[in-house]
Amino acid sequence: MKGIILSGGSGTRLAPLTKVTSKQLLPVYNKPMIFYPLETLLKAGIKDILIIVAPDHPGDYLKLLGSGREFGAKFTYEIQDKPEGLAQAFIIGREFIGEDDVCMILGDNIFEDDFSETIKNFKSGGHVFAKEVGDPERFGVVKFDDNMNAVKIEEKPKAFLSNYAVTGLYLYDNRVVEAAREIKPSARGELEITELHNWYLSKGELKVDIVKGDWIDAGTFESLYKASELARKKVLNNT
Ligand code: G1P
Repeated sequence: MKGIILSGGSGTRLAPLTKVTSKQLLPVYNKPMIFYPLETLLKAGIKDILIIVAPDHPGDYLKLLGSGREFGAKFTYEIQDKPEGLAQAFIIGREFIGEDDVCMILGDNIFEDDFSETIKNFKSGGHVFAKEVGDPERFGVVKFDDNMNAVKIEEKPKAFLSNYAVTGLYLYDNRVVEAAREIKPSARGELEITELHNWYLSKGELKVDIVKGDWIDAGTFESLYKASELARKKVLNNT
């Protein structure tokens, strides 16, 4: 299983904090934001990790994370020239992925849960993780039937679909590389990750689990602040 941390985008919603550095390098209590998704992957035993960054501050990432040796891992870097969607990571990362399965996590997503067992037990298909939120319109949203089977996934739905957001942790088998190449850009000009979920869903091969602990997409002032609070609580409780 290879790992990808997608740390692209320009973080405009966090301006002026993001004027001189990347959103995913901003502090979340006592660590740079990207350390949290990195730890999620490392904890699950993923050691071979591709870090995809925007063209603005690649040197800062290299300085912070280096070769990966310090973390007992090996890091590879690629640039996403423009914010053209999450699914583009599997096109940029094609050679890196090779014949393997892949676990991608977004550089601004902070999870309290430990996904080690789920990641280690992954066999095939797609596996994503949903969390009930109050502002589903900000996210990819999944609708479940009465047995909690996913029936529909839509990116930032205009009409209410459900309160379950699809979080930024994705497990796919190697077919994702081909599936990503088939996607066409959406109205917002992005290769949407939701299309990949739907590719697997239409084949009956998408598993959707519920995230139990806290999940934060730290891309706004409010969520960045909440992320710091959560991290502080964990440090003080030593958990
Ligand atoms: C992206 C995905 C969305 C997902 C979210 C999680 O949204 O497109 O499906 O729910 O990340 O953080 P974006 O950050 O591009 O608005």
